[in-house]
Amino acid sequence: MIIATEIKALRAQIKTWRMQGLKIAFVPTMGNLHEGHLALVKAAHQHADKIVVSIFINPMQFGLSEDIDNYPKTHQQDKEKLIGENTDLLFLPSSEVIYPKGFTDNTFVEVPNISNLYCGKSRPGHFRGVATVVCKLFNLVHPDVACFGSKDYQQLQIIQTMVDDLSMPVEIIPVDIIREKSGLAMSSRNGYLTQEETQQAPVLFETLQWLAAQLKDKSNNHNHQRLCQQATNKINKAGLTTDYINICHAYTLAESKPADKNLVILASAFCGKARLIDNIRVQL
Ligand code: PAJ
Repeated sequence: MIIATEIKALRAQIKTWRMQGLKIAFVPTMGNLHEGHLALVKAAHQHADKIVVSIFINPMQFGLSEDIDNYPKTHQQDKEKLIGENTDLLFLPSSEVIYPKGFTDNTFVEVPNISNLYCGKSRPGHFRGVATVVCKLFNLVHPDVACFGSKDYQQLQIIQTMVDDLSMPVEIIPVDIIREKSGLAMSSRNGYLTQEETQQAPVLFETLQWLAAQLKDKSNNHNHQRLCQQATNKINKAGLTTDYINICHAYTLAESKPADKNLVILASAFCGKARLIDNIRVQL
C-alpha cells in the first residue's frame, strides 16, 4: 500500500493510474477503522481497479464544543486493516496540507436546507465542513466512484445532492450499515461507551425496528407524531437521551407526508458521552 501525506505525491500516483486507463474508487474516512469502514473498501473493490482511502480528522466539521483532540487516532492498526483489504493508496494528510490558510477563512461548500435538519440542527456548521472537505478530497483524488455508509444517512444524501448540484463526475455508492451482534450500528464513537452503556445502546436500533413495524402494520392509523413520541419514550426509558427521531421522505429528508411510500426513520440519542445515530429504511 502506498502512503501519501502530500498532495503532490497523491496527484502523481493518480495521474499514473489514469494514464493506464484504470478506474479509481475512493473511501473517505476519519480513521479508527472498524468493520463498517472496511465494508466500504470491500464495496469499492467491486467498482474499480485501484482503491484510495483517506484518513483525515476534519477540523472544519467539529463544533467549538466538540472535542476533536480526543477523537481516537489508531493509524498503525488502521494501516494494517487497510493492507488486509488490499487498499492501493492511503492518503494521510495533515491539517496544514488540507487547510494551508487555516479552516475558518476558507472557501466552503454548503448544501442548503437538508444540511440544517436533524444532525445539522444539533451540530451547526457540521455538514458545511463535511461537504467542503469531501469536495476538496474529490478534487484531489478524482475518483470514478466514492463509497459512503448508509449509517450516516443524512451525510450520504448531502454528498449526493452536492454531486448532483455541482455536476461532479463521480458516482456515489451507498453501502449498508454494519452492526454489532447486539444490533448497535458500528461507530468510532462506540469506544466512548462504558460496559453498562454498551448494554443500553442497542435500544436505539430496537426502537427503529419497532417503529418500522408500526408503519408497516396496516391496522395502525399511522399518526407519525404520536409514534415518534412513543419511540422517544422507549429510548429515554432505557437510559438514553433522544436528540431526535423523525420519519422522513427517503431522499429529500423532509418530514413524511401521508402519501409518501419511500421512507427513512432517522434517529440520534446520547448514551453517556457518545452521540449515537442510526436509521432504518421503510418501503410501504
Ligand atoms: P467516518 O465517521 O470515519 O466514516 C467514514 C465512512 O464510513 C462514512 O461514509 C460512514 O458512513 C461509514 N461508516 C461508518 N460506520 C459505518 C457502519 N457501521 N456501517 C457502514 N458504514 C459506516 O463520515 C465521516 O468519517 C466523515 O464525515 C467524512 C465523510 C470522512 C468527511 O470528513
